[in-house]
Amino acid sequence: MANLQEQGIMGIQAVRLDDENNALVILDQTLLPNEKKYLSLTDQKEIWEAIYLLKVRGAPAIGIAAAYGAYLGVKASRAVTYEELYADFLKVKEYLASSRPTAVNLFWALDRMEQRLKREAGKDVIEVKLALKEEADTIRQEDEETCAAIGRYGLSLLKPGWGILTHCNAGTIATARYGTALAPIYLGQEQGYNFKVYADETRPLLQGARLTAWELQEAGVDVTLICDNMASIVMKEGRIQAVLVGCDRVAKNGDTANKIGTSGVAILAKYYGIPFYVCGPLSTVDLNCRTGEDIKIELRPGEEITHQWYARPMAPEGVKTYNPAFDVTPRELITAIVTEKGIAYPPYEKSLPAMFAE
Ligand code: MRU
Repeated sequence: MANLQEQGIMGIQAVRLDDENNALVILDQTLLPNEKKYLSLTDQKEIWEAIYLLKVRGAPAIGIAAAYGAYLGVKASRAVTYEELYADFLKVKEYLASSRPTAVNLFWALDRMEQRLKREAGKDVIEVKLALKEEADTIRQEDEETCAAIGRYGLSLLKPGWGILTHCNAGTIATARYGTALAPIYLGQEQGYNFKVYADETRPLLQGARLTAWELQEAGVDVTLICDNMASIVMKEGRIQAVLVGCDRVAKNGDTANKIGTSGVAILAKYYGIPFYVCGPLSTVDLNCRTGEDIKIELRPGEEITHQWYARPMAPEGVKTYNPAFDVTPRELITAIVTEKGIAYPPYEKSLPAMFAE
């Protein structure tokens, strides 16, 4: 990623640490595309709310935010012994882990911080705090490298001029940089692939319209915004040669949770004979979930369907709502899963664990 790396959309850091001011700095994604505003979050409640309200969102970005959040929580601790500090860490960990249930990266990052804490056992609290900062920095840095690798593997599946459909936002602002499902598109853009990208608007929170269409347009990619219910017609008309989506949790057998609506897109892709690729880091693969049945799906307030983003309510007062934020795409509909270690093909219960051994 030579040219895009330091400029334009790739220059944006959606999640970072401002250690001097004891703050997690995030780009408020709920204000995009109208306003590019950074928030400086200094207390745990603010960080929890930013994750819950999707001000910072996207599985890898949530993991990074939680890692820095845990570091800042521990940094603020007045503990004088290692044991006291550990106890404070556990409180922070439990609190941040309750912000959203589906993206495993949140739990993965917090567990990784705890593992680091364990390795520092017995050390002076100041040293332990520094070690936790280093671990959170490493998680962020690794995600950047991971996304670049996903971009390279993903691009190897695509041909110049192809039409690509994507759902939700798995772009640079959902990660440390480059994105997952959008990484092959950005890399292809650098190499003159001239992709034509169709972005599903992604009801109810419009991550596709507000974030993906914005990101790709800023990067100069040919992007067309469609409503979710238009995916079928663009496939039927031959405009789509591949679907690329991100993921929030991939079970050991390949079943994949991603933004609500993803499984519908996968069913359509199967019907029209279009390859359906899931792109994600191994930190999103949860070998403890045997199948998609084990993945907890987040339920969110009905107001996101009836009111949010509308100047006036768009549903009758008091109507019943059902608002699952994710769905699970069964493995049979997934052509391949693109990770930083390579491309996993079915049977996933064999190919995914093998990726961890790489
Ligand atoms: O509810 P969101 O916006 O956090 O959902 C995000 C997604 O579904 C993304 O596709 C996924 O987290 C991958 S981001 C690289």
